[in-house]
Amino acid sequence: MSEIQTLARWIKESSFTVALTGAGMSTESGIPDFRSQSGWWNNIDPATVATVEALEENYELFQQFYASRMQGLRACTPHRGHAILAEWEQRGFLHSVATQNVDGFHQQAGSRNVYELHGSIRTVRCSTCDDQTELEDFLAGKACPHCKGRLRPDVVLFGEMLPQEPWQRALADIRSAELVIVIGTSLQVYPVAQLPLMTQGRVAILNYEPTAQDDHFELVIHGKAGELLQQINSQI
Ligand code: NAD
Ligand code: APR
Repeated sequence: MSEIQTLARWIKESSFTVALTGAGMSTESGIPDFRSQSGWWNNIDPATVATVEALEENYELFQQFYASRMQGLRACTPHRGHAILAEWEQRGFLHSVATQNVDGFHQQAGSRNVYELHGSIRTVRCSTCDDQTELEDFLAGKACPHCKGRLRPDVVLFGEMLPQEPWQRALADIRSAELVIVIGTSLQVYPVAQLPLMTQGRVAILNYEPTAQDDHFELVIHGKAGELLQQINSQI
């Protein structure tokens, strides 16, 4: 039996399946990931844009980086792989999606039980008074209309805590899962990278390149998420 057929069988046998996704889930939608050859961190030192220090001490570069990611997102849409995960939820084959992605594509494709562990680039707040503000104000480089503080996207910066409610719900689901499908993540950033190791259930990894945890799990398929999900879906 092929690895694709094995995973399709595992999905049909499981009564509680969780997907854990990363940036590799959205590259077929045209959004770069972070640590591949074409990833963001090959051209930009993440410490200069994706940290609290960058927000506080290098605001112009911080604002330009996230504004360009927001603009880039406008030309992109979820792909067939996002839609398949949403269909599996509707058909009872998938309980929830825990994602490191901030693009909102799982929800846009129809997934309802989505935990955004690294926040969302679709909304903006003031870093001083915490008020939710308009995305356009951030894109225009404006200050907070209420307190003149600096605006920032609702993403988790390195060094910040993950949002507690999505983290606790994802942790509970992973612990209860009979199957965890890890899709499009290098599993290099903690604490999310520890999640696959915390389930008692089976774990399958779908990733283009080897990940930091391939050796821990019995089913690892290297390939493109969208293509692999279509092949698996044709077996279900
Ligand atoms: P880390 O310092 O252990 O680095 C892990 C990986 O992330 C490394 O392989 C490196 O490639 C990359 N990295 C290191 N520093 C980075 C930075 N400043 N920006 C982007 N990538 C970086 O990372 P960590 O400190 O273990 O990450 C976990 C912490 O960061 C936690 O506080 C978590 O809440 C937060 N976090 C933020 C993001 C984000 O969206 N920027 C994503 C994941 C985690
Ligand atoms: N199909 C499958 N895997 C893919 C595809 C694809 N189409 N495209 C890329 N990949 C793989 C890459 O080979 C890589 O191993 O997805 C993985 C993406 O890993 P990263 O770029 O490290 O992204 P991610 O794991 O999501 O990063 C975690 O780090 O900087 C922070 O906020 C950022 O949430 C992100 C976190």
